[in-house]
Amino acid sequence: MKKRIGILTGGGDCPGLNPAIRGCVYAAQKYGYECVGLIDGWKGLMEGAATPLNREITEYLVMKGGTILGTSRTNPLKSEDGVKKCLATFKKLDLHALVAMGGDDTLGVAARLYKDHKLNIVGVPKTMDNDLNATDYTFGFDTSVTRAMDAAQSLMDTGASHHRIMVLEVMGRHAGWVALYTAIAAAADFVCIPERKIDTSEMIRKLRESYARKRFALVVTSEAAEMPEAGEDKIKHELDQFGHRILKDRGMGEHISQFIEKQTGIETRFAVIGHMQRGGAPTLFDRILATRVGIKAAELVHTGRFGMMSSLVDNRIVGVPLAQAVGELKTVSEDWFELMELMF
Ligand code: F6P
Repeated sequence: MKKRIGILTGGGDCPGLNPAIRGCVYAAQKYGYECVGLIDGWKGLMEGAATPLNREITEYLVMKGGTILGTSRTNPLKSEDGVKKCLATFKKLDLHALVAMGGDDTLGVAARLYKDHKLNIVGVPKTMDNDLNATDYTFGFDTSVTRAMDAAQSLMDTGASHHRIMVLEVMGRHAGWVALYTAIAAAADFVCIPERKIDTSEMIRKLRESYARKRFALVVTSEAAEMPEAGEDKIKHELDQFGHRILKDRGMGEHISQFIEKQTGIETRFAVIGHMQRGGAPTLFDRILATRVGIKAAELVHTGRFGMMSSLVDNRIVGVPLAQAVGELKTVSEDWFELMELMF
């Protein structure tokens, strides 16, 4: 009988998950394994909800956004018998190994299950936020930024026609990578990221200067950027099962837009791209990266390198310890601030 590998996708979906599943299934079959998918991330492992996966089912997944396995933000470590249920399903489905595809949260659970229960587990890095350590990039990021960049350019057209300041709010939670890359790539006039408190007088000075020169301006803000006077600590945010603030009603784009209009007297509009930057077909870069890390995950299982994550390092796909990837987010480092000064 063939050994069986379970695959799950957890956390926010992003383009690249399907190509990664496909790569993993193709490689696993080559090594002589069969695969099953767990439905909706850790929830599926807790509840024993599984579906068969093979080459035929996954053949055309390379161009498909989202995840055919479904996902959730369920954290088994948060419920009393969550881990027990995961271990029971692992046994019941007769799994030889589990491939967990996710960001810091999903892989944090994987790392714990490996450490505490010696479960045969490997990780695959994904997240549109690009905030995972121990890998140069995560798939999902390139597609999200490409979409946000297109949106920013569209806003710029309207800004130029109506002589307005346009503000685009993008996702990225605690990391400003999406906002920063979008702003650089779309030739924005100012960028707001959570890693750097907004210098509001500097922002207004720069926007006035840009507007005087070309009669429009573009600002890209991360959903999690902070105005110095916002009194953020006093705002009560709903938290998900991993303890992250749910930022959906925070309205940073609107807040900044109102502030700019009030300070400059220039007509200002904002747009929030939201989940549109997280769906749809993956870019070429994400299709290839996802395929490569998916294949590597099957290889890590086959060679018995559990507790590892497939990772992009200097354009090579290698195995790194899961423990190195999780626990602390990779946020925009200070060496980027100099570049920001130059570009905005
Ligand atoms: O972590 C990915 C992400 O898209 C963040 O950038 C964003 O803050 C969050 O997920 C949104 O989560 P949800 O889809 O659960 O609203």
